[in-house]
Amino acid sequence: MATVDVVIIGAGAAGLMCALTAGYRGRSVMVIDHANKAGKKILMSGGGRCNFTNMNTTPAHFLSENPHFCISALKRYTPSHFVELVDRHGLEYHEKTPGQLFCDHSSKDLLAILMTECEWAGVDIRLKTSIENISEQKDGFALKTSLGKVECESLVIATGGLSIPTMGATGFGYDIARQFGLEVLPTRAALVPFTLQPHDKEPLAPLSGVSCDVEVHCGKHHFREPMLFTHRGLSGPAMLQISTFWHPGDSLTIDLFPQGGLLDELRAHRHQHPKQALETWLNQKLPKRLVQTLSEKYGWQGAMQQYGDTRLRDIEAALRQWQIKPSGTEGYRTAEVTLGGVDTKHLSSKTMAVTDVPNLYFIGEVMDVTGQLGGFNFQWAWASGVSAGSTV
Ligand code: FDA
Repeated sequence: MATVDVVIIGAGAAGLMCALTAGYRGRSVMVIDHANKAGKKILMSGGGRCNFTNMNTTPAHFLSENPHFCISALKRYTPSHFVELVDRHGLEYHEKTPGQLFCDHSSKDLLAILMTECEWAGVDIRLKTSIENISEQKDGFALKTSLGKVECESLVIATGGLSIPTMGATGFGYDIARQFGLEVLPTRAALVPFTLQPHDKEPLAPLSGVSCDVEVHCGKHHFREPMLFTHRGLSGPAMLQISTFWHPGDSLTIDLFPQGGLLDELRAHRHQHPKQALETWLNQKLPKRLVQTLSEKYGWQGAMQQYGDTRLRDIEAALRQWQIKPSGTEGYRTAEVTLGGVDTKHLSSKTMAVTDVPNLYFIGEVMDVTGQLGGFNFQWAWASGVSAGSTV
């Protein structure tokens, strides 16, 4: 039997950050994970270069039933604090789009920093270890694990969400929450590509691999980012971002000319080059394969001079208000995050502790706090991990 001060279940971003913070405070910490490697999602994130924070992080970048819950932790552990940590280890990184920091070389470099810090802080990481049950006892908790019995004073649940089950994601954290009487808000895959209905999928399939800048709208939400056609449907940052706000049955409105001024440009071009084909002009503005597909669909053939103002307006509407009703999303199989989760009303926003169960904590993605695309989800993992790690 092992007895430690703190057990953290989940050796992901939040669990490792919590572990090193508590370890440096002199607490004996054991991290338990059923996977064969720590930080698998860190490794696969950001296309292998981990977008590890966003310097422009604000609470407005997060979705939760209680939008105020994340304020305190984000204020106390900011992106600059995390940058300070990686700078101390000499990590080489760059800013991609404003605020988004990525490793120059590999996500492995970032994970190595966390593992080194955990080692320095004396954290004991047990991989390939499963947990059969957890029970509350007089001064803490007892865990029945594949390693044997483990007792601890504080228990931190950092098991993440449901996305990418092949990487070890489970609903274990939600089960523990329910066991201790906490509510779990309905979960949904987010930051996820869309699938299309057959009548859209078929004509768009040949565009797989084509990318363009768009502004996508769903209800009152909109994002201006690149969109990518895939063999299954629509992806790229614009679609991942809007997927968080999309519900089955909703339509998307896609503006393929988000810079505006399309009608004026078309009219001016007709005046200057009346004999030039419309397609030739469109090819300068949009990817050729996309223009070809649209031209076939709408019959956009012939010289500019054949297009009266009404037809030019139709072209503008087709390009700027393209309506598409996805059949669904690719689901947890490819989603970057899970919306919903452990209801924050049971937790202290300062320490992540469960108000009614002494010494039980939830951190990271397992709870109902979900960031937008761009490094915000890792910043939440770091900030919530530090909050709990400073208290356990
Ligand atoms: P995380 O999922 O990282 O860790 C949970 C741990 O718990 C895992 O190690 C798992 O094995 C373990 N576990 C689960 N069930 C268990 C059980 N029953 N017993 C024992 N252990 C168990 N975010 C961002 O900010 N920038 C980015 O670039 C990206 N990119 C990205 C790409 C892809 C493909 C994905 C899937 C996700 C991202 N994200 C991201 C999101 C980010 O990875 C995510 O929000 C954080 O990893 C969440 O950290 P957690 O520690 O909460 O969970």
